Amino acid sequence: ATATIRIDPARVIDKVDPRIYSGFTEHMGRCIYGGIYDPGNQNAELINEKTGLRKDVMDALKALKIPVVRYPGGNFVSTYRWQDGVGPRESRPRRPELAWLTEESNQFGTDEFIEFCRELGTEPFICLNMGTGTLEDALAWVEYCNSSANTYYANLRRKNGHEEPYGVKYWALGTNLALIQVDVAKSIAGNEVWGPWQVGQMESQDYAKKAFQWAKALRLLDPTIKLIACGETGFSDWDRVVLKKLAPVVDFHSIHLYTVSEGKHLVNVVGPAAAEKGIEITKSLIDLAKIECGLSKELTVCFDEWNVWDPVRAPGEKGAEEHYDLSDALAVASWLNVFVRKADIVKIACIAQSVNVISPIITSPTGLFLQTTYFPLQLFSNLMCGSSLNVHVGGSPTYSGETVPKFIHDLDVHAPESAKGTKLIDISAVLSEDGKEVRVAIVNRSDEEEFAVPILFGPETQVKDEVTVHEVWHEDLRAKNGFDGQNVKTVVRTEAWKGIYVLKKHSFQILVFTLA
Ligand code: AHR
Repeated sequence: ATATIRIDPARVIDKVDPRIYSGFTEHMGRCIYGGIYDPGNQNAELINEKTGLRKDVMDALKALKIPVVRYPGGNFVSTYRWQDGVGPRESRPRRPELAWLTEESNQFGTDEFIEFCRELGTEPFICLNMGTGTLEDALAWVEYCNSSANTYYANLRRKNGHEEPYGVKYWALGTNLALIQVDVAKSIAGNEVWGPWQVGQMESQDYAKKAFQWAKALRLLDPTIKLIACGETGFSDWDRVVLKKLAPVVDFHSIHLYTVSEGKHLVNVVGPAAAEKGIEITKSLIDLAKIECGLSKELTVCFDEWNVWDPVRAPGEKGAEEHYDLSDALAVASWLNVFVRKADIVKIACIAQSVNVISPIITSPTGLFLQTTYFPLQLFSNLMCGSSLNVHVGGSPTYSGETVPKFIHDLDVHAPESAKGTKLIDISAVLSEDGKEVRVAIVNRSDEEEFAVPILFGPETQVKDEVTVHEVWHEDLRAKNGFDGQNVKTVVRTEAWKGIYVLKKHSFQILVFTLA
C-alpha cells in the first residue's frame, strides 16, 4: 500500500497544553499503599522517613513530567471522609471502603498527597465526595487546603504543621466513568454519579442542580479555584444536560473512557477513535451550552480518566494490575495522538492510573519495572509539546473489523460512530516551542504490513537532511516487560533524511525534524 503523510507547520490547531500529560492516584489496589507510599519497607529506598514516598517510584514518575495529579478517586472518593486522613497518623480511623470493598487505613491523606505533589513538582487536583459527602465537608476541605484566614479548618492545617495554604487549584464536583469496547457486546464495571454502581448515584438533572449550588458556595470561599463538572463519555444525554446547567459555573467538563479489546490487537489500537468522537461531540455540546447560556468564557474538556483497561482481565476489586504488552503501548500512543490532535479543546487529560493500578509503573517490595506503556507516555510528555499541527494521512489502509453500534455500559449510551474506517497509520505533529523542530508521532497499527511513507511538509518548509528517531518497537507484538527484563523500551537513533520513512509493522515512533 502507498500512504503519504502531510504536515504543514503553518497550519496550527492550538498550543498543546502540557496538562494533557497528567496523572491520577486513587486509593485503590496498590496505587498509594505499596506504590507511591511505602513507609517501613526496609527494602526500598524512601525519599525520607517522614514522607514515606518511594524514591524509585518518584524518579520514574518525575521522568514522565506530570503537570497535574488527580486524587483520591475515582470510585473511592464517593464514600471518603477527608477529615479521617489528616492529623496524627496514630489516631486516624480505619474505615470500611465501599468502592473496592477493602479497608482504608487513612495513613495517607491530604497532607501526604500535597507532599507527594511538591516532591514530584506537580499540581494537585482534588475530586470532591458527592456520594456520601456534604457541601459542608467540601467547603471544609477547600478551607483546609487553601485558606489563609484565622478559621477552624485553616487553623487545623496549621496545627498539623502546614502554615502556608496549599493553593489547590483544581476541584472536581464528583467523578465518572465509562468503558468502551469496540467489538464485543458485554458489560462492565462502573462508577460515578450517573452510574447505578455508584454510592450516591443521581439523575443528570439532580446532579446538575446540586453541583450548581456547590459551585456557587465553593467559589464564595475561594474564587480562584477551577471547577470540573462530572460528565460521562462525551456522547450522552448526561453530558448535554449537565453542560447546559453547569456551563456558567465550571471551567472544565470531564469525560472518561477506557478501551477494551479482549486480546484483539486491531480492536485495541483503534479503540481511542471512540475518545476522539466523544471529544468532538463534547466540543459541540460545549458550544451549544455556551450559546444557550450566552457565555463567552473558556470552557474545555478535562479527560480525567483514560487508558487501556480490560476489567475482566484485571478486575478493580483485585487491584486492576494490568500487565501491558507492545499492542497496549501502541494503543496508549494512539490515545495520546488523539489528545494532541484535539489540542484546541482538551486541556487536561489524566492517565488512569499512575502506579500499579492500570499503570505504566509496577512495583514490588524491592523495586519496580516500567511497563511497555511507560515509553510512549514519556516520549509524548517530553517531545510532543509546543503547537499542535494539522496533519493528513492519505492512502492508509483502514480498520474494517467488527464493531458494535453502541458503547456498552449500564446506561445504554449509543456510540455516534464506530471505529470502522479508522486509519491504521495514526499520527499527530507539533511545532516545538522554540519553533525550530517539527516532531511527528506515528503509530503503525498494522500487525501485518510495513509502509514506506513519504512525509511532505508545506510548500514553504524545508527540513534538514537528518532525522532523529525515538522508536518503541519489538518484533513480538505480545512482548511485555517485567521484573526479569525490559523487552520494550525507547531506542533513539539519527538517520539521514531522504523524504521517505519506513514504518515497521506494529511500531511507534516520534520523528524529530529540524527546520532548515
Ligand atoms: O481508575 C479506576 C476506576 O475507574 C476509577 O475509580 C473510576 O472512576 C473508574 O471506575
